[in-house]
Amino acid sequence: MDHFAYRNGELYAEDVPLSRIAAEIGTPFFCYSTATLQHHYRVFTGAFSGVDAAFCYAVKANANLAVIRTLAEMGAGADVVSAGELERALAAGVAPAQIVFSGVGKSREELSHALDKNIGQFNVESSAELDLLSDIAASKGLTAQIAVRVNPDVDADTHEKISTGRHQDKFGIPWPAAREDYARAKVLPGIEVVGVAAHIGSQITSLAPFDAAFTKIVGIVDQLRHDGHDIRRLDLGGGLGIPYEGETPPTPSEYAEMVKRVTAAVDCELVFEPGRVIVGNAGVLVSRVLYIKESAGHTFTVLDAAMNDLLRPSLYDAHHAIVPVRESAADTDFHPTDIVGPICESGDVFAHGRPMPPLVTDDLLVIRTAGAYGAVMSSNYNSRPLAAEVLVNGDIFEIVRRHQTNEEMLALEEMPSWFDDRNVSRTRGVA
Ligand code: LLP
Repeated sequence: MDHFAYRNGELYAEDVPLSRIAAEIGTPFFCYSTATLQHHYRVFTGAFSGVDAAFCYAVKANANLAVIRTLAEMGAGADVVSAGELERALAAGVAPAQIVFSGVGKSREELSHALDKNIGQFNVESSAELDLLSDIAASKGLTAQIAVRVNPDVDADTHEKISTGRHQDKFGIPWPAAREDYARAKVLPGIEVVGVAAHIGSQITSLAPFDAAFTKIVGIVDQLRHDGHDIRRLDLGGGLGIPYEGETPPTPSEYAEMVKRVTAAVDCELVFEPGRVIVGNAGVLVSRVLYIKESAGHTFTVLDAAMNDLLRPSLYDAHHAIVPVRESAADTDFHPTDIVGPICESGDVFAHGRPMPPLVTDDLLVIRTAGAYGAVMSSNYNSRPLAAEVLVNGDIFEIVRRHQTNEEMLALEEMPSWFDDRNVSRTRGVA
């Protein structure tokens, strides 16, 4: 369910026509819907009503401050994977106690910073990280509350590049090796064991892998308690998939029923780190047609958005629905076209042979389901400025990140001193 729909032949975000935003701020831009964000957060959390559960929104999915704030106002915590994401969560008003720090490569500086901020939980992913965290915490006279992220060796049956819970993946610590880390954690200074964490991948469209992983983790909780650990939190990660192309992932309530069944006897606070399921279809990427190009029997629709704005199709061959802002008449003939960006790379393709209505230069197209892993994965490739982000709320829209400028793109760079006129002769070896 989302709040992007045609009215009077035009695509709206809630009560705002996307063409109006495009006319005012220019393209390309991401547009997010407050009502959709709220709806998904409510549906996901509502599925666990009556359960002792915390919801730490996975900031990596969409890190815009206004998006985090919208969810924080509804009670969401945050799952962060860098000091940058931690700063974002704090800046958006998430309470430190509601922040979980995940990630396989937290640096000394990041751990130190997170300890200073007094965050709620560190999900430790290696023995070496455990030692480092203990060192830093002890030297500050602080205590880090930790869960070990256990790698349950379960195949999430999703795209190869977003599967994280198999033994060959870099994430987590396998069982029973993790048991030794728990034993060490018990005696290490500055460390307090509070739970167990798992996250097996993203865009998971069936319950079976979750069920298998969570069942293993529940068994692990029993063993850890038997070893004398006070396990009171069970962090089950994120990963619930959404429909991009007719997939039928479990609904949040089906997912919740399975979780309740598997964890019934465990008596822990449950922690969830949902990302995509909250923000995925709450966002679209709005772009303008630059050219229609006929070439060797092929039609290319060249947009002003590119793989630097939305990388998913290029990186994962991901499918995103693409629709015109102006609704097509019922009897319109659709013709296949390759929908591409302007980047100098053949992989800069949003869709191959996609049936589309007749299009002309300046038409607006919307790439749907771009709220998750869209703007956050964008780059300056081809020195293209970052696209703007807009948040709609009812009949108002506001720019929540403006278009980057060329000046801003250049601002971090310096010419080395040897290009200064006075140094030229020296570097060339001229006396
Ligand atoms: N927790 C941890 C530790 C994670 O690594 C992730 C995602 C999540 C939670 C949130 O997962 P979600 O509920 O969003 O599935 N760029 C890829 C997705 C990468 C996901 C990385 N980890 C894509 O565009 O499909």
